[in-house]
Amino acid sequence: MGSFYVTTPIYYVNAEPHLGHAYTTIVGDALTRWHRLLGDDVTYLTGTDEHGLKIRQAADAAGTTPQEFCDRIAPAFQRAWERLDIANDDFIRTTEPRHHAAVRELLQRCYDAGDIELDTYSGKYCVACEEYYTDDELLDDGLCPIHKRPVDHFEEENYFFRLSRFQDRLLDWYAAHPGAIVPEFRANEALGLIRGGLRDFSVSRTSLDWGIPLPWDSDHVAYVWFDALTNYLSAVGFGDPAQDHTQRWPVDYHLIGKDIIRHHCVYWPAMLMSAGVELPKGWAVGGWLLVDGEKMAKSTGNVVNPLDLVDTVGVDGFRYYVLADTTYGSDGDFSYDGLVARYNADLANNLGNLMARVATVVAKKCDGVGPAPRADSPLADAAAAAVAGATTGWDAVSPSRALEATWGLIRATNAHLEANEPWKADPGAEVDAVMGDALEALRIIAVLTHPAVPGTAAQIWERLGMTGALDDQRIPDAVSWGGYPGGTDIVKGDPLFPRIAS
Ligand code: MSP
Repeated sequence: MGSFYVTTPIYYVNAEPHLGHAYTTIVGDALTRWHRLLGDDVTYLTGTDEHGLKIRQAADAAGTTPQEFCDRIAPAFQRAWERLDIANDDFIRTTEPRHHAAVRELLQRCYDAGDIELDTYSGKYCVACEEYYTDDELLDDGLCPIHKRPVDHFEEENYFFRLSRFQDRLLDWYAAHPGAIVPEFRANEALGLIRGGLRDFSVSRTSLDWGIPLPWDSDHVAYVWFDALTNYLSAVGFGDPAQDHTQRWPVDYHLIGKDIIRHHCVYWPAMLMSAGVELPKGWAVGGWLLVDGEKMAKSTGNVVNPLDLVDTVGVDGFRYYVLADTTYGSDGDFSYDGLVARYNADLANNLGNLMARVATVVAKKCDGVGPAPRADSPLADAAAAAVAGATTGWDAVSPSRALEATWGLIRATNAHLEANEPWKADPGAEVDAVMGDALEALRIIAVLTHPAVPGTAAQIWERLGMTGALDDQRIPDAVSWGGYPGGTDIVKGDPLFPRIAS
């Protein structure tokens, strides 16, 4: 038990929320719910990134002011997360006063430390990335390696953050904190960037007004990445003399996509070192969800709206798919057929079917009242293995592993029923014993599936007649064998996951 602070990237408001945004946000939500079950005092932060050239251009194209534009799109993210059952504690927008205060404070500290200096920048810039590139980083035809589109030439007087001074300090820090970046192969990518040599980066602009003015030179606004990264501190009170950000900071995990490793694992820790702020405890780097082999992005035109998918497979069907189908860290391939296949196999045939058959047999053979489980049930070991596997999986920020272990118990319980065929037996002690075991397994399954499919898990909990809110349960007590008391009315209800014709 302790405190746990986890963040998602803040999403650019130049596009409506898409599957890629939903993916990272659902992973954060599942992790949050797992840590709440552990009894941790969790802060889950997400939000929107609203400054910079990209947003200014999107607002211009829409014929509105940037502020109006942001005010229109940011709520679309909030609504999408509500619809997806995201239990974030805070939603930060970089146009908020609390964020401005934090950015000014961080900039000033780095400036006072002598790590921000005036210089002239001349080079290539990708507006979609809001990132500078050298010629050798661009594709052969001079296009941005991420967006495959032309870059702009920029030349202006900027303040620079002296990142080049931080190479040794960063390498030493990562050497002293092994495992800070998960999964490990993503840590190697970050270290590769640092070892490859660090270029100073510009932290201000004079050619743009849509940003936060530098505290010591109001002709310049802060570069959007310096501004954006600071959100993680703004939300916990940094820059506000009335608050103590160290109550929450350092963050336990920044969840990020592999596209923003450089900013989060190189720029950000160097900025924090310069400012004398403690470094994050961890980063969990996810891959991309690809559609037809391409990263989903507005500029690629292959955007999948998560809310359309929810109409087909339900909120939990969608959440389960993104958590279970892709190993966090690696790229995943999104396909509609894959979504439906997983839904039918794991949710309709396995979890949904288990609930339905247990309730049906209890209705027919036990007068609808659940028998108590046996202490020496053959399912007790399967339950312990599922708890151990789920714990290891969530601990490593590997939802697919955690769910694989959880589904092990669902499969074992279905197999237990099939081996004993209580539906064929006469009512009596033997049927009671088998059904008591199955009910207890389902109770544990409700707790273990709560992070991934909270709505469904709560329904299972209620149908079993368990009292108290499911999300008030605490691990390990709530998942130790024997918690189902017996004697409750078991409710059959509608199918949890009606099969979808494929
Ligand atoms: N605003 C910056 C982040 C600033 S954080 C201080 C940004 N925003 S973004 O909206 O373009 O994307 C942010 C994140 O969304 C990615 O890093 C990734 O976590 C997630 N994804 C966006 N597209 C994705 C996929 N196609 N697949 C998986 N995740 C993706 O970058």
